[in-house]
Amino acid sequence: MTEALGLSTVLGDEAAYRQAVAEAVAAAAAYYGDGSTALDDEAYDRLVRRVAAYEEAHPGQVAPDSPTGKVAGGAVTGDVPHTVPMLSLDNVFSPEELTAWAAGLERRLGRPVRAWSVEPKLDGLAVAARYREGRLVQLITRGDGAAGEDVSHAIGTIVGLPDRLAEPVSVEVRGEVMMTAAQFEAANLVRVEHEGTPFSNPRSGAAGTLRAKDRPYTVELTFFGYGALGPQRDGELARRLEESAHSEVMEFVAGLGVQTTTATGAGMTTATTLEDVQRRVEEIAGLRTGLGLGIDGIVVKADAAADQVEAGFSSRAPRWAIAYKLPAVEKITRLVEVEWNVGRTGVIAPRAVLEPVQIDGTTVTYATLHNAADIARRGLLLGDHVTVYKAGDVIPRVEAPVVHLRTGAETPIAIPDACPRCGGDVDTSQQRWRCRQGRLCHALASISYAVSRDALDIESLGRTRIEAMLQAGLIADFADLFTLDHEAVLGLERMGHTSTTNLLAAIEAAKTKPLNKVFCALGVQGTGRSMSRRIARHFATMDAIRAADIDELQQVEGIGPERAALIAAELHVLAPVIDKLAAAGVSMTEPGATTGGTPGTGTDGPAPSADADLPLAGMTVVVTGSMTGPLAALSRNETNELIERAGGKTSSSVSARTSLLVAGDKAGSKKDKATALGVTITTPEDFAETVKAFL
Ligand code: IVH
Repeated sequence: MTEALGLSTVLGDEAAYRQAVAEAVAAAAAYYGDGSTALDDEAYDRLVRRVAAYEEAHPGQVAPDSPTGKVAGGAVTGDVPHTVPMLSLDNVFSPEELTAWAAGLERRLGRPVRAWSVEPKLDGLAVAARYREGRLVQLITRGDGAAGEDVSHAIGTIVGLPDRLAEPVSVEVRGEVMMTAAQFEAANLVRVEHEGTPFSNPRSGAAGTLRAKDRPYTVELTFFGYGALGPQRDGELARRLEESAHSEVMEFVAGLGVQTTTATGAGMTTATTLEDVQRRVEEIAGLRTGLGLGIDGIVVKADAAADQVEAGFSSRAPRWAIAYKLPAVEKITRLVEVEWNVGRTGVIAPRAVLEPVQIDGTTVTYATLHNAADIARRGLLLGDHVTVYKAGDVIPRVEAPVVHLRTGAETPIAIPDACPRCGGDVDTSQQRWRCRQGRLCHALASISYAVSRDALDIESLGRTRIEAMLQAGLIADFADLFTLDHEAVLGLERMGHTSTTNLLAAIEAAKTKPLNKVFCALGVQGTGRSMSRRIARHFATMDAIRAADIDELQQVEGIGPERAALIAAELHVLAPVIDKLAAAGVSMTEPGATTGGTPGTGTDGPAPSADADLPLAGMTVVVTGSMTGPLAALSRNETNELIERAGGKTSSSVSARTSLLVAGDKAGSKKDKATALGVTITTPEDFAETVKAFL
């Protein structure tokens, strides 16, 4: 790949040098502008290193627009001056380079560094948040380091950056604004509903969102602080901050209520030896994929104020800090083919088939392409080299073609004009195309989902039997299962008396499933099994869910305005199925939930006071490894249900927000992570004891 990009060679002459500078400047402008990528991170870093090497050998030929020695590669400017320049960081790429850098710093100081602090390098946008007497008054991007852009309009939409501090102090907190993986997926759902331009990666999502002023919708961002300055006029606080160690400054900032890198799940720690620093670097690198947010490296800083002051700054970066870069999560590979798949709700989604590429330890062969309009907008062709993004929990996605690598052999991507599954009409009125038959088009998928373990759990109803019933015209949707005729089922191939009786008994038994399972079986877009549980507990009856308007739906945790609208629209489409279920006598209530969710009141579910008394109230619990003791008989989903009955929330990944990890046999990386984060770990037996009343 590097060969194809022409980046693996030394720059031979001034023309090659100038061409490299132009490429780097264009890439930096895109990256710091709209957050798009013309070169992946590794290719950019290599290019700039090559430019720097050429400049060192030919100091007389340095181009004025060269990206070396400039903040943001010289790509951006702004109009709000920074009181103290917002600098960049120098990079290292290996343990050896880190050791060499630390040795250089200690040589400069003439003594060992007193302590190091180690924290994740967040892959977002640097901003300065100015607080005056405890109120957030201005938000400024880094810009060219000397002046940035005023993005104060984003105040109020950024998690972790409160409008008010815990104390009425005037302080400038610096840090990174980003989209977590969850915020990114949620933002793209909203974008696709509105105008069909999904963000290609969380970083460009954060960049675009921070600058956008007049969007008809809001999407959430997150802030993590990594530094603070006192105001120029208030000498006292400024001096205190200047004289404090980095770790103390960050503790002060966290105490004011601003989120810091400590809250990322990768933590911020201090170390006194370089061996400990290297260990922490490895530990954070190991945590990377499970953090639910993008990090592109680890920042190592001299912690003590005196060390920082003595080390000082270069024009571009502090000499007391370094970024240890991790492998890029954006890579370039070839787009081989585009497949069109029909999902269980009838949505027709294109999927890219790629020349397999290693990204952050996994081989990526498929990536999402969202929708047809998106393919056109990105100008993709078959055979194109494309940038692909894959980080942690984010689904791999194709970002953009690398146009300058085209050979002329690329061909247009065929866009289907009929449903690729049934050949019927396609509803193209929304960005996400759908077969006009909706769920009926891929009925096998939607019915299989409805009877799966997490929904109605009718084990004896496998895909072959569903297919046979569909073929025979006995069913069209899963509600028809409840009115099946014994003789008709008996008439199907390979169905004898016993198997028919057993199957119909299993279907009959499913009529008594709690509402959350029945709701889950509907396969409403924007909901899964845990959202179905929350909805069922909140509303208690199907009638209450159906009567809820968009505002009332939003009272369920995790449902915002867009998802509420989507759920309401889906419930409208599914009305005939729900009516059939009710008429067949399928249960429409959630045991244990009280129906305060009557239309208009918007409050319901178990009374809050009752919830607060539950043993896991306010706790987020993660379960890992194989369960032993009383929990051994439960599926993971059943264990999660148990946790929720006992008042807790469940999560599949460990983070700083995790209250408890239930670690069974062969618990692996989650246990390591919980240990690193100081999360309480318990055995399945002890945990079963805590929740035995709910088993
Ligand atoms: S400290 C004087 N700490 O990385 C500059 N920067 O590539 C001190 N960044 O401009 C910066 N995470 O926007 C610092 N934990 C962290 C960071 C971090 C991300 C960004 C920051 C900086 C850029 C340099």
